[in-house]
Amino acid sequence: MNSIILAIESSCDDTSAAVIIDGKIRANIVATQAIHEKYGGVVPELASRAHEQNIIPVVSQALHTANITKSELNAVAFTRGPGLLGALLVGCSFAKSFALGLGIPLIEVNHMQAHILAHFIDDPKPKFPFLCLTVSGGHTQIVLVKNYLEMQVLGQTTDDAVGEAFDKSAKLLGLPYPGGPLLDKMAQTGNPDKYSFPIVIMPGYDYSFSGIKTAILNFVNKNTQAQPNFIAENLPDICASIQKALIQTLMKKLVSAAQETGIKEIGIAGGVSANSGLRQTIQDYAEKYHWNTYLPAFEYCTDNAAMIAITAHYKYMAGRFTNQYASPDPRMKIAL
Ligand code: KG4
Ligand code: ZN
Repeated sequence: MNSIILAIESSCDDTSAAVIIDGKIRANIVATQAIHEKYGGVVPELASRAHEQNIIPVVSQALHTANITKSELNAVAFTRGPGLLGALLVGCSFAKSFALGLGIPLIEVNHMQAHILAHFIDDPKPKFPFLCLTVSGGHTQIVLVKNYLEMQVLGQTTDDAVGEAFDKSAKLLGLPYPGGPLLDKMAQTGNPDKYSFPIVIMPGYDYSFSGIKTAILNFVNKNTQAQPNFIAENLPDICASIQKALIQTLMKKLVSAAQETGIKEIGIAGGVSANSGLRQTIQDYAEKYHWNTYLPAFEYCTDNAAMIAITAHYKYMAGRFTNQYASPDPRMKIAL
């Protein structure tokens, strides 16, 4: 079946549009909103306004890059959730109006499912069933992926997401937002064994990342009282040690899930899957536990519409469309 789909992503602070033709990504345009940097985090109201400004230029650019006209489209897809309500509303309303105007079907996409299906944009692709450690600014989950559209969350964070833990740790060290990538960069020249931060083990496959913030706050207060320049003088070692604790926490449950399910196909997805320490650790564990591991290309780790497009492609093939009354679902669960 010939399919040309326009996909829109607007769940947080990236406005993105992609075009997919017969399962191949032909355009993936991302406008990252710089406005949040000076506030040290995403301001929902500003995110919605920036999406409103960016959406038409981003869609036009995507159609232009893919070298198609809107009359050639067979469907329009959008992120229905999870995410910020006002931000989701922009993409959802735009997609509904566009589809209605063109008289073509609408496809809703779950953002977390899309992070996982980003593995099917390029080769090598995981074989089903596989386990995916989905790590972003809003989520931390171990997902059993049975098929493209059949997924089961085995465990998840009970409080902060690991991306949030990266960003909040970086903030406590005085790094600007978004701190995760900067903490990663600093960690690359640091000694991960210099300081020790807690690894919290929760029941089952669940996680908790809220405690590490308190541990870091206490660590910062204690050491800067004795030595005011302590952070600046030891930043790479502190970053490397925090990163190690976060990665070890993630890996402990992933190893248990792999052992208990007997699955050796392992992927990572979401913004934190761009972390160099996590990527290296997954590869080290692959050797140790004989896993086949899958790391998304950097451009498909953080938020992008290409992942929405590939998910929409599988939904289109399965005939799973959405009616025109669909509204955003900020707490949308991964669909079964
Ligand atoms: O998936 P994503 O782009 O947006 C959400 O759906 O939340 O993930 C964003 C998160 C942020 O917390 C950001 O700091 C984190 O991913 N992140 C990283 C790195 N790159 C992005 N965290 C650690 N190391 C990185 N290299
Ligand atoms: Zn995301």
